[in-house]
Amino acid sequence: MDPSFQTYRLTDDHDTVRAAVREIAEKAIEPYAKDVDEQPRYPQEAQDALVSSGFHAVHIPEEYEGAGADSIATVIVIEEVARVCASSSLIPAVNKLGSMPVILSASEELKREVLPPVARGEAMFSYALSEREAGSDAAGMRTRARLDGDQWVLNGTKCWITNAGKSTYYTVMAKTDPDAGTRGISAFVVHKDDPGFSVGTKETKLGIKGSPTCEIHFENCTIPANRIIGEPGTGFGTAMKTLDHTRLTIGAQAVGIAQGAIDASLGYIKERKQFGKSISEFQGVQFMLADMAMKTEAARQLIYVAASKAERQTPDLTFASAAAKCFASDVAMEVTTDAVQLFGGYGYTTDFPVERMMRDAKITQIYEGTNQIQRMVMARQLLKR
Ligand code: CAA
Ligand code: FAD
Repeated sequence: MDPSFQTYRLTDDHDTVRAAVREIAEKAIEPYAKDVDEQPRYPQEAQDALVSSGFHAVHIPEEYEGAGADSIATVIVIEEVARVCASSSLIPAVNKLGSMPVILSASEELKREVLPPVARGEAMFSYALSEREAGSDAAGMRTRARLDGDQWVLNGTKCWITNAGKSTYYTVMAKTDPDAGTRGISAFVVHKDDPGFSVGTKETKLGIKGSPTCEIHFENCTIPANRIIGEPGTGFGTAMKTLDHTRLTIGAQAVGIAQGAIDASLGYIKERKQFGKSISEFQGVQFMLADMAMKTEAARQLIYVAASKAERQTPDLTFASAAAKCFASDVAMEVTTDAVQLFGGYGYTTDFPVERMMRDAKITQIYEGTNQIQRMVMARQLLKR
């Protein structure tokens, strides 16, 4: 792949990745998407297909047995899976989110312990920052960790944890020095079998119904001292740096959902006849379709630019990633709502996938920081310049 990334450009390898993921997504993931949403149930078929094809966690570097894919290849994987099933796209997306703090800041020993099982598809990774009373204000967390001899002891509850119960590893942010503000927060890796760790009840949601979202509890949860990520007090910075790399992947999920809605709409409007002709012949319909495709393409370009900045670790990544996520998720919400409109009454039924896509799109404006928070992040970056 293009190692320079001075300006982003898709290579033949990126096209090959897209073609391969699209084939798997259409054959092994899309056929189950409706059932996954309706039951709702975990998309095990998607997990199996992604693991057997090696697309479940492509971002993990080669030295830890991963595919070592660059940021653009990683977003292409997420985009293509989201095009057919947004819930399933959270398997590669959250594997990246959960493991990124380790990749960015953990000791070599911890990297060698936890990354290879994820690369091999034997384990998944979740990310636990949010709490009931600390969502946008992540630093307001109450979960505590204290050093006791050669072990850390964690107490508290994290909420909204994607893939909780399915993941083996959890990156957990906790206060180690409650008087030190954000500099008193540390990051840890908790294993599902660690004593004192448990998964709570699952949320009932509007969309991404196949993706489990649960509380996780720490009751005197004891982990070895070497499972801290970096130095004590660096956890908040690591959590934020991680989001710089992964907000753009949520943008990719949004672009995938929007593209799925456009593709479904194209098929429908050519078939559907009113006033004696295909509705695709009406200018009012054509203009909607053109706007949907134009905005989705603009969002896609912003995602790839942000991904190339992630690859180069440029100082404007924070702005670019927040902008890409914010823009793409607003586009996905608009495009999927318009897709339902193009299907008329049928779009409002579960006979067609566009209503699911509209419900799934909504979360992309909320998680990994609401779009108000993205705007705050962007404005702070601009004001700093
Ligand atoms: N990179 C590195 N360091 C950063 C940083 C970044 N992007 N952003 C902030 N920091 C550092 C600051 O430099 C500062 O460090 P110093 O004390 O050393 O100066 C420290 O972090 C505190 O920064 P702020 O004063 O800006 O912190 P804040 O309390 O005002 O909060 C915030 C900032 C941007 C609002 C942050 O709380 C935030 O991002 N909130 C949204 C939470 C969120 O996105 N949650 C996502 C959960 S995961 C999820 O939802 C999963 C899913 O999608 C599947
Ligand atoms: P609040 O912070 O209470 O916000 C409520 C409203 O107030 C929002 O509109 C918000 O934008 C607005 N608001 C708040 N502060 C400001 C401000 N300063 N300026 C302007 N407006 C503001 N978290 C994890 O850690 N790991 C996960 O895996 C994870 N997965 C998730 C999956 C799902 C399905 C959901 C719903 C959430 C998930 N989250 C996860 C949590 C998610 O990141 C939070 O829900 C999100 O950051 C918002 O926090 P909140 O829900 O507490 O909303």
